[in-house]
Amino acid sequence: MTTLTSLVNHQVRLAARPVGMPGPECWSHTTEAVQEPAEGGVLVKTHAISLDPAMRGWMNDVKSYIPPVGIGEVMRAGGVGTVIASKNPQFAVGDAVSVGTGVQEYMLVPQDQIRKTGLVKIDLSMGNMTQWLNVLGMPGMTGYFGLMDVGQPKAGETLVVSGAAGAVGQTVGQVAKIKGCRVVGIAGGKAKCDWVVNELGFDACIDYKAGNVKAGLKEHCPQGVDIYFDNVGGDILDDVLARINRKARIIICGAISQYNNTTPVQGPKNYLSLLVNRARMEGIVVFDYADRYHLAVAEMAGYLKDGRMKSREDVVNGLNTFPETLGKLFSGANFGKLVLKVAD
Ligand SMILES: NC(=O)c1ccc[n+]([C@@H]2O[C@H](COP(=O)([O-])OP(=O)(O)OC[C@H]3O[C@@H](n4cnc5c(N)ncnc54)[C@H](OP(=O)(O)O)[C@@H]3O)[C@@H](O)[C@H]2O)c1
Repeated sequence: MTTLTSLVNHQVRLAARPVGMPGPECWSHTTEAVQEPAEGGVLVKTHAISLDPAMRGWMNDVKSYIPPVGIGEVMRAGGVGTVIASKNPQFAVGDAVSVGTGVQEYMLVPQDQIRKTGLVKIDLSMGNMTQWLNVLGMPGMTGYFGLMDVGQPKAGETLVVSGAAGAVGQTVGQVAKIKGCRVVGIAGGKAKCDWVVNELGFDACIDYKAGNVKAGLKEHCPQGVDIYFDNVGGDILDDVLARINRKARIIICGAISQYNNTTPVQGPKNYLSLLVNRARMEGIVVFDYADRYHLAVAEMAGYLKDGRMKSREDVVNGLNTFPETLGKLFSGANFGKLVLKVAD
Protein backbone atom coordinates (compact mmCIF):
# COMPACT_ATOMS: atom_id res chain seq x y z
CA MET A 1 0.00 0.00 0.00
CA THR A 2 1.28 3.51 -0.86
CA THR A 3 1.85 5.64 2.21
CA LEU A 4 1.55 9.40 1.95
CA THR A 5 5.16 9.99 2.82
CA SER A 6 6.33 7.75 -0.02
CA LEU A 7 4.64 10.08 -2.53
CA VAL A 8 6.73 12.56 -4.48
CA ASN A 9 5.41 16.03 -5.25
CA HIS A 10 6.53 17.38 -8.65
CA GLN A 11 6.50 21.17 -8.78
CA VAL A 12 7.18 24.05 -11.14
CA ARG A 13 8.89 27.05 -9.51
CA LEU A 14 9.59 30.56 -10.73
CA ALA A 15 13.34 30.66 -11.42
CA ALA A 16 13.76 34.10 -13.04
CA ARG A 17 11.67 37.15 -13.89
CA PRO A 18 10.81 37.39 -17.58
CA VAL A 19 11.52 40.18 -20.00
CA GLY A 20 8.78 40.01 -22.61
CA MET A 21 7.40 36.52 -23.26
CA PRO A 22 8.44 34.08 -20.49
CA GLY A 23 10.99 31.55 -21.76
CA PRO A 24 12.15 28.19 -20.32
CA GLU A 25 14.78 30.00 -18.21
CA CYS A 26 11.94 31.36 -16.04
CA TRP A 27 11.09 27.93 -14.62
CA SER A 28 12.65 25.17 -12.56
CA HIS A 29 11.21 21.71 -12.06
CA THR A 30 11.66 20.39 -8.51
CA THR A 31 10.51 17.49 -6.34
CA GLU A 32 9.69 17.26 -2.65
CA ALA A 33 8.47 14.51 -0.36
CA VAL A 34 4.76 14.74 0.46
CA GLN A 35 4.01 15.59 4.10
CA GLU A 36 1.17 14.38 6.31
CA PRO A 37 -1.14 17.22 7.37
CA ALA A 38 -0.78 18.45 10.95
CA GLU A 39 -3.80 18.94 13.23
CA GLY A 40 -6.45 21.00 11.38
CA GLY A 41 -4.66 20.63 8.04
CA VAL A 42 -5.63 19.03 4.73
CA LEU A 43 -3.65 17.37 1.93
CA VAL A 44 -5.01 17.78 -1.60
CA LYS A 45 -4.05 15.84 -4.71
CA THR A 46 -4.23 18.20 -7.68
CA HIS A 47 -6.40 17.08 -10.56
CA ALA A 48 -6.12 20.16 -12.77
CA ILE A 49 -4.68 23.64 -12.71
CA SER A 50 -6.06 26.84 -14.17
CA LEU A 51 -3.67 28.61 -16.53
CA ASP A 52 -4.45 32.32 -16.48
CA PRO A 53 -3.14 35.41 -18.24
CA ALA A 54 -2.74 36.94 -14.76
CA MET A 55 0.16 34.55 -14.17
CA ARG A 56 2.25 36.76 -16.43
CA GLY A 57 1.61 39.71 -14.11
CA TRP A 58 2.38 37.68 -10.97
CA MET A 59 5.88 37.02 -12.41
CA ASN A 60 6.76 40.73 -12.38
CA ASP A 61 8.26 42.33 -9.30
CA VAL A 62 5.81 45.23 -9.22
CA LYS A 63 3.06 46.45 -6.90
CA SER A 64 -0.31 45.02 -7.90
CA TYR A 65 -3.55 43.75 -6.36
CA ILE A 66 -1.59 40.71 -5.11
CA PRO A 67 2.15 40.35 -4.26
CA PRO A 68 4.40 38.89 -6.97
CA VAL A 69 5.49 35.25 -6.83
CA GLY A 70 8.96 35.15 -5.25
CA ILE A 71 11.94 33.70 -7.09
CA GLY A 72 12.23 30.05 -6.05
CA GLU A 73 8.58 29.78 -4.99
CA VAL A 74 6.13 27.28 -6.46
CA MET A 75 4.27 29.17 -9.19
CA ARG A 76 0.90 30.44 -7.95
CA ALA A 77 -2.14 28.82 -9.57
CA GLY A 78 -5.74 28.00 -8.82
CA GLY A 79 -6.66 24.35 -9.08
CA VAL A 80 -9.12 21.60 -8.34
CA GLY A 81 -8.42 18.28 -6.71
CA THR A 82 -9.34 15.69 -4.13
CA VAL A 83 -8.65 15.56 -0.42
CA ILE A 84 -6.39 12.56 0.23
CA ALA A 85 -5.69 13.17 3.93
CA SER A 86 -7.46 15.36 6.44
CA LYS A 87 -7.05 16.28 10.07
CA ASN A 88 -9.84 18.85 9.76
CA PRO A 89 -13.44 17.88 10.53
CA GLN A 90 -14.72 20.14 7.73
CA PHE A 91 -12.95 18.16 5.00
CA ALA A 92 -13.12 14.41 4.45
CA VAL A 93 -10.93 12.15 2.34
CA GLY A 94 -12.51 12.01 -1.11
CA ASP A 95 -13.97 15.54 -1.03
CA ALA A 96 -13.62 17.44 -4.30
CA VAL A 97 -12.14 20.86 -3.61
CA SER A 98 -11.02 24.07 -5.23
CA VAL A 99 -7.83 25.61 -3.81
CA GLY A 100 -4.82 27.68 -4.76
CA THR A 101 -2.83 24.54 -5.47
CA GLY A 102 0.12 26.20 -7.15
CA VAL A 103 1.73 24.42 -10.08
CA GLN A 104 2.35 21.15 -8.25
CA GLU A 105 0.87 17.70 -7.76
CA TYR A 106 0.05 17.93 -4.05
CA MET A 107 -0.95 20.87 -1.89
CA LEU A 108 -0.60 20.71 1.87
CA VAL A 109 -2.95 23.26 3.44
CA PRO A 110 -2.24 23.96 7.12
CA GLN A 111 -5.26 25.07 9.15
CA ASP A 112 -4.18 28.72 9.23
CA GLN A 113 -3.87 28.78 5.41
CA ILE A 114 -7.33 27.44 4.59
CA ARG A 115 -8.82 30.90 4.04
CA LYS A 116 -5.76 32.33 2.31
CA THR A 117 -5.53 29.45 -0.16
CA GLY A 118 -9.28 29.61 -0.84
CA LEU A 119 -9.79 25.93 0.05
CA VAL A 120 -13.48 25.11 -0.42
CA LYS A 121 -15.48 22.03 -1.26
CA ILE A 122 -17.00 21.94 -4.73
CA ASP A 123 -20.18 20.17 -5.75
CA LEU A 124 -19.56 18.02 -8.82
CA SER A 125 -23.29 17.71 -9.43
CA MET A 126 -23.24 21.42 -10.42
CA GLY A 127 -20.41 21.02 -12.91
CA ASN A 128 -17.41 18.81 -13.55
CA MET A 129 -13.88 19.53 -12.30
CA THR A 130 -12.79 21.57 -15.32
CA GLN A 131 -16.04 23.55 -15.36
CA TRP A 132 -15.15 24.51 -11.79
CA LEU A 133 -12.05 26.15 -13.25
CA ASN A 134 -14.07 27.81 -15.99
CA VAL A 135 -17.63 29.13 -15.81
CA LEU A 136 -18.10 28.06 -12.17
CA GLY A 137 -14.59 29.15 -11.21
CA MET A 138 -12.52 32.31 -11.18
CA PRO A 139 -12.95 33.30 -14.87
CA GLY A 140 -16.70 32.72 -14.69
CA MET A 141 -16.93 34.84 -11.55
CA THR A 142 -14.92 37.56 -13.29
CA GLY A 143 -17.22 37.57 -16.29
CA TYR A 144 -20.38 37.41 -14.23
CA PHE A 145 -19.62 40.16 -11.71
CA GLY A 146 -17.82 42.39 -14.19
CA LEU A 147 -20.84 42.23 -16.45
CA MET A 148 -23.57 42.41 -13.82
CA ASP A 149 -22.06 44.83 -11.29
CA VAL A 150 -20.10 47.16 -13.55
CA GLY A 151 -21.76 46.58 -16.92
CA GLN A 152 -25.32 46.58 -15.54
CA PRO A 153 -26.81 45.16 -18.75
CA LYS A 154 -30.33 46.01 -19.82
CA ALA A 155 -32.36 44.06 -22.35
CA GLY A 156 -31.97 45.47 -25.83
CA GLU A 157 -28.53 46.99 -25.21
CA THR A 158 -25.52 46.11 -27.36
CA LEU A 159 -22.55 44.48 -25.60
CA VAL A 160 -19.17 43.89 -27.18
CA VAL A 161 -16.70 41.49 -25.58
CA SER A 162 -13.12 40.88 -26.68
CA GLY A 163 -11.32 37.61 -26.01
CA ALA A 164 -14.78 36.29 -26.83
CA ALA A 165 -13.91 32.59 -27.12
CA GLY A 166 -11.75 32.55 -24.01
CA ALA A 167 -12.67 31.72 -20.44
CA VAL A 168 -13.98 35.09 -19.32
CA GLY A 169 -15.35 36.00 -22.75
CA GLN A 170 -17.54 32.93 -23.12
CA THR A 171 -19.20 33.62 -19.78
CA VAL A 172 -19.73 37.33 -20.46
CA GLY A 173 -21.31 36.79 -23.86
CA GLN A 174 -23.60 34.00 -22.76
CA VAL A 175 -24.81 35.75 -19.60
CA ALA A 176 -25.37 38.95 -21.59
CA LYS A 177 -27.48 36.99 -24.12
CA ILE A 178 -29.51 35.50 -21.28
CA LYS A 179 -30.06 39.04 -19.95
CA GLY A 180 -31.42 40.09 -23.35
CA CYS A 181 -28.50 41.99 -24.88
CA ARG A 182 -27.31 42.00 -28.47
CA VAL A 183 -23.87 40.40 -28.16
CA VAL A 184 -20.95 40.95 -30.50
CA GLY A 185 -17.70 39.12 -29.85
CA ILE A 186 -14.18 39.92 -30.97
CA ALA A 187 -11.84 36.94 -31.32
CA GLY A 188 -8.83 35.74 -33.29
CA GLY A 189 -9.65 33.40 -36.18
CA LYS A 190 -12.65 32.02 -38.02
CA ALA A 191 -12.98 28.88 -35.88
CA LYS A 192 -13.38 30.88 -32.66
CA CYS A 193 -15.77 33.36 -34.28
CA ASP A 194 -17.88 30.56 -35.77
CA TRP A 195 -18.03 28.83 -32.38
CA VAL A 196 -19.26 31.83 -30.39
CA VAL A 197 -21.94 32.57 -32.99
CA ASN A 198 -23.07 29.05 -33.88
CA GLU A 199 -22.61 27.30 -30.53
CA LEU A 200 -22.93 30.06 -27.93
CA GLY A 201 -25.55 32.11 -29.74
CA PHE A 202 -23.68 35.44 -30.02
CA ASP A 203 -25.25 37.71 -32.64
CA ALA A 204 -21.97 38.31 -34.45
CA CYS A 205 -18.22 38.03 -34.02
CA ILE A 206 -15.41 40.09 -35.49
CA ASP A 207 -12.22 38.24 -36.41
CA TYR A 208 -9.63 40.85 -35.45
CA LYS A 209 -6.84 38.82 -37.02
CA ALA A 210 -8.57 38.82 -40.41
CA GLY A 211 -9.65 42.37 -40.78
CA ASN A 212 -10.69 45.74 -39.72
CA VAL A 213 -12.24 45.85 -36.23
CA LYS A 214 -13.59 49.38 -36.80
CA ALA A 215 -15.47 48.28 -39.90
CA GLY A 216 -16.75 45.17 -38.12
CA LEU A 217 -18.08 47.25 -35.23
CA LYS A 218 -19.82 49.60 -37.64
CA GLU A 219 -21.45 46.67 -39.41
CA HIS A 220 -22.46 44.64 -36.34
CA CYS A 221 -23.25 47.42 -33.86
CA PRO A 222 -25.49 49.68 -35.93
CA GLN A 223 -26.99 51.16 -32.75
CA GLY A 224 -23.57 51.78 -31.16
CA VAL A 225 -22.05 50.04 -28.12
CA ASP A 226 -23.62 50.32 -24.66
CA ILE A 227 -21.27 47.95 -22.82
CA TYR A 228 -17.72 46.96 -23.72
CA PHE A 229 -16.14 44.15 -21.71
CA ASP A 230 -12.44 44.59 -22.40
CA ASN A 231 -10.13 41.62 -22.04
CA VAL A 232 -7.41 42.74 -24.41
CA GLY A 233 -6.73 46.52 -24.32
CA GLY A 234 -4.55 48.09 -27.03
CA ASP A 235 -5.92 49.11 -30.42
CA ILE A 236 -9.16 47.16 -29.98
CA LEU A 237 -10.07 49.26 -26.93
CA ASP A 238 -9.57 52.41 -29.02
CA ASP A 239 -11.68 51.01 -31.85
CA VAL A 240 -14.57 50.28 -29.48
CA LEU A 241 -14.25 53.65 -27.71
CA ALA A 242 -14.90 55.27 -31.07
CA ARG A 243 -18.35 53.62 -31.22
CA ILE A 244 -19.73 53.89 -27.69
CA ASN A 245 -23.12 55.34 -26.87
CA ARG A 246 -24.09 57.95 -24.32
CA LYS A 247 -23.76 56.50 -20.77
CA ALA A 248 -21.82 53.47 -22.03
CA ARG A 249 -20.03 51.28 -19.48
CA ILE A 250 -16.55 49.92 -20.23
CA ILE A 251 -15.31 47.15 -17.99
CA ILE A 252 -11.53 47.00 -17.80
CA CYS A 253 -11.02 43.34 -17.01
CA GLY A 254 -7.64 42.79 -18.62
CA ALA A 255 -5.28 43.89 -21.37
CA ILE A 256 -3.62 40.73 -22.61
CA SER A 257 -2.28 42.50 -25.70
CA GLN A 258 0.01 44.45 -23.35
CA TYR A 259 1.23 41.86 -20.85
CA ASN A 260 4.43 40.88 -22.66
CA ASN A 261 5.33 44.38 -23.82
CA THR A 262 8.90 45.46 -23.30
CA THR A 263 7.76 49.04 -23.97
CA PRO A 264 5.29 51.00 -21.79
CA VAL A 265 1.65 49.89 -21.80
CA GLN A 266 -0.36 51.50 -24.60
CA GLY A 267 -3.17 53.52 -23.06
CA PRO A 268 -6.39 54.49 -24.84
CA LYS A 269 -6.04 57.35 -27.31
CA ASN A 270 -9.78 57.79 -27.75
CA TYR A 271 -10.52 58.40 -24.07
CA LEU A 272 -12.25 61.72 -24.76
CA SER A 273 -15.08 59.62 -26.12
CA LEU A 274 -15.88 59.02 -22.42
CA LEU A 275 -16.37 62.74 -21.96
CA VAL A 276 -18.42 63.27 -25.09
CA ASN A 277 -20.66 60.31 -24.27
CA ARG A 278 -20.82 60.81 -20.47
CA ALA A 279 -19.54 57.25 -20.33
CA ARG A 280 -17.44 55.49 -17.71
CA MET A 281 -14.63 53.00 -17.67
CA GLU A 282 -14.10 50.93 -14.53
CA GLY A 283 -11.63 48.23 -13.56
CA ILE A 284 -12.57 45.07 -11.70
CA VAL A 285 -10.67 42.51 -9.62
CA VAL A 286 -12.59 39.29 -9.22
CA PHE A 287 -11.48 38.62 -5.63
CA ASP A 288 -13.56 41.59 -4.46
CA TYR A 289 -16.68 39.50 -5.11
CA ALA A 290 -15.61 36.40 -3.15
CA ASP A 291 -18.43 36.69 -0.63
CA ARG A 292 -20.96 36.50 -3.49
CA TYR A 293 -19.37 33.74 -5.59
CA HIS A 294 -21.89 31.20 -4.31
CA LEU A 295 -24.76 33.22 -5.77
CA ALA A 296 -23.20 33.41 -9.23
CA VAL A 297 -22.21 29.73 -9.10
CA ALA A 298 -25.80 28.73 -8.31
CA GLU A 299 -27.15 30.88 -11.15
CA MET A 300 -24.66 29.64 -13.72
CA ALA A 301 -24.92 25.99 -12.67
CA GLY A 302 -28.64 26.41 -13.38
CA TYR A 303 -27.86 27.70 -16.88
CA LEU A 304 -25.47 24.79 -17.49
CA LYS A 305 -28.16 22.37 -16.43
CA ASP A 306 -30.97 23.88 -18.49
CA GLY A 307 -28.67 24.15 -21.53
CA ARG A 308 -28.67 27.95 -21.76
CA MET A 309 -24.95 28.00 -21.07
CA LYS A 310 -22.11 25.98 -22.57
CA SER A 311 -18.56 25.77 -21.38
CA ARG A 312 -15.51 24.89 -23.37
CA GLU A 313 -12.21 23.92 -21.81
CA ASP A 314 -8.93 23.34 -23.61
CA VAL A 315 -7.28 20.62 -21.52
CA VAL A 316 -3.56 19.91 -21.89
CA ASN A 317 -1.96 16.98 -20.07
CA GLY A 318 1.14 16.99 -17.92
CA LEU A 319 2.54 19.25 -15.20
CA ASN A 320 5.87 19.39 -17.01
CA THR A 321 4.28 21.01 -20.06
CA PHE A 322 3.36 24.06 -17.95
CA PRO A 323 5.93 26.50 -19.46
CA GLU A 324 4.96 25.99 -23.09
CA THR A 325 1.26 25.49 -22.34
CA LEU A 326 1.11 28.86 -20.58
CA GLY A 327 2.43 30.45 -23.80
CA LYS A 328 -0.75 29.36 -25.63
CA LEU A 329 -2.67 32.15 -23.88
CA PHE A 330 -0.52 34.82 -25.49
CA SER A 331 -0.52 33.41 -29.02
CA GLY A 332 -4.23 32.63 -28.90
CA ALA A 333 -3.54 28.90 -29.39
CA ASN A 334 -5.95 28.04 -26.56
CA PHE A 335 -9.58 27.52 -27.57
CA GLY A 336 -11.70 27.93 -24.45
CA LYS A 337 -10.53 27.94 -20.84
CA LEU A 338 -6.92 26.71 -20.71
CA VAL A 339 -6.55 23.90 -18.16
CA LEU A 340 -3.49 21.83 -17.28
CA LYS A 341 -4.47 18.33 -16.27
CA VAL A 342 -2.12 16.96 -13.64
CA ALA A 343 -3.71 13.65 -12.61
CA ASP A 344 -6.91 11.65 -13.07
N1 LIG B 1 -9.69 41.52 -13.50
C1 LIG B 1 -9.77 40.26 -13.09
O1 LIG B 1 -10.08 39.97 -11.93
C2 LIG B 1 -9.49 39.18 -14.08
C3 LIG B 1 -9.73 37.83 -13.77
C4 LIG B 1 -9.52 36.85 -14.75
C5 LIG B 1 -9.05 37.24 -16.01
N2 LIG B 1 -8.80 38.55 -16.25
C6 LIG B 1 -8.34 39.00 -17.58
O2 LIG B 1 -9.32 38.62 -18.52
C7 LIG B 1 -8.71 38.43 -19.79
C8 LIG B 1 -9.13 37.07 -20.34
O3 LIG B 1 -8.62 36.04 -19.50
P1 LIG B 1 -9.00 34.52 -19.78
O4 LIG B 1 -8.54 33.74 -18.63
O5 LIG B 1 -10.42 34.45 -20.19
O6 LIG B 1 -8.06 34.17 -21.03
P2 LIG B 1 -8.53 33.54 -22.41
O7 LIG B 1 -9.37 34.57 -23.09
O8 LIG B 1 -9.08 32.20 -22.18
O9 LIG B 1 -7.15 33.38 -23.16
C9 LIG B 1 -6.44 34.49 -23.60
C10 LIG B 1 -6.88 34.90 -25.03
O10 LIG B 1 -6.48 36.24 -25.24
C11 LIG B 1 -6.42 36.46 -26.63
N3 LIG B 1 -5.24 37.27 -26.96
C12 LIG B 1 -3.94 36.96 -26.71
N4 LIG B 1 -3.16 37.95 -27.17
C13 LIG B 1 -3.98 38.89 -27.73
C14 LIG B 1 -3.76 40.14 -28.38
N5 LIG B 1 -2.54 40.63 -28.55
N6 LIG B 1 -4.85 40.83 -28.80
C15 LIG B 1 -6.10 40.34 -28.64
N7 LIG B 1 -6.36 39.15 -28.04
C16 LIG B 1 -5.31 38.45 -27.58
C17 LIG B 1 -6.31 35.08 -27.29
O11 LIG B 1 -7.53 34.85 -27.98
P3 LIG B 1 -7.69 35.20 -29.54
O12 LIG B 1 -7.41 33.93 -30.26
O13 LIG B 1 -9.09 35.65 -29.62
O14 LIG B 1 -6.68 36.25 -29.86
C18 LIG B 1 -6.19 34.13 -26.12
O15 LIG B 1 -6.80 32.90 -26.39
C19 LIG B 1 -7.21 38.59 -19.57
O16 LIG B 1 -6.85 39.90 -19.91
C20 LIG B 1 -7.06 38.37 -18.07
O17 LIG B 1 -5.92 39.00 -17.55
C21 LIG B 1 -9.00 39.51 -15.31
